[in-house]
Amino acid sequence: MSAARPTVLIPGGINARVRERVEAEFEAISIAAADATLLDPEARARIDGIACSTAITADFIDAFPNLSVIASFGVGYDAVDAKHAASRGVMVTNTPDVLSDEVADTAIGLLLNTLREFPKAEAYLRAGRWAAEGAYPLTPLTMRGRTAGIFGLGRIGLAIARRLEAFGLPIEYHTRTKRNDVDYPWHDSLAGLASAVDTLIVVVPGGAATEKAVNADILDALGPQGVLISIGRGSTIDETALIEALASRRIAAAGLDVFANEPNVPQALLDLPNACLLPHVASASVSTRNAMADLVVDNLAAWLDGRPALTPVPECAGLDRKPG
Ligand code: DGY
Repeated sequence: MSAARPTVLIPGGINARVRERVEAEFEAISIAAADATLLDPEARARIDGIACSTAITADFIDAFPNLSVIASFGVGYDAVDAKHAASRGVMVTNTPDVLSDEVADTAIGLLLNTLREFPKAEAYLRAGRWAAEGAYPLTPLTMRGRTAGIFGLGRIGLAIARRLEAFGLPIEYHTRTKRNDVDYPWHDSLAGLASAVDTLIVVVPGGAATEKAVNADILDALGPQGVLISIGRGSTIDETALIEALASRRIAAAGLDVFANEPNVPQALLDLPNACLLPHVASASVSTRNAMADLVVDNLAAWLDGRPALTPVPECAGLDRKPG
């Protein structure tokens, strides 16, 4: 008789390819949400791994005595209590690298749409207004002559910087620690970066360290020609301050792919003509999401087979697989 296959829990919704592969390669258990009371103690004891695209709390982790790995779908894993998992010897993995170029492409598209109003210009054409009223108005904003500031020069930030270089923009950045592998001017504070540039691109991960980092002071430092692009996590922006800054034109415009309370977007933001809004689609192409899905399942397969995880999050790097 062959050895029993590991059991993997899917709490809540997940990418279809993750579900298909988990069901094909493991004993799969799905529950509607990350709520351990949806399983009886016997089922909880069988769980070896979790594949998730939802918040995983310390209490949820503690509900599974034999849990060994949590494979999170997405590069951002702020919703998973990785520190607690690591303290319990539970591996956490995410899906870096495979989405960097796609997200960077989206950042450039969002920036151009915000500056040059292409979605509005297309809506104008489709509404018959070109023929009826004449040319779409000239856009007050342009990419030409701008200086980009990147808040968070990790893998995605760097991919955005390389693209903006090709557009002819000077790049500056703020990270906690200066990188020694790039020549872009570094600022030791976000306020310093915002004062030096007119186009601020926010790519930092979510979590307590970046919560509402972009506040009224930062937006004022960016100034009336300033444009904010947010592509990391909605939690990094003080949305109330942003709405006020956009409404009073203390900054010129903003392009947002992420929001504080997704999928709910404040009506005040929807009402602003100088906000360009996307429904968290930065990595959302079939091929990139498939690559992310494969990485989720390949991480589970490796770890549950006794091999190292492919992409452990930093909190869990160096964690050894528990025997058993
Ligand atoms: C990520 O990978 O973190 C993206 O935001 C998609 O969830």
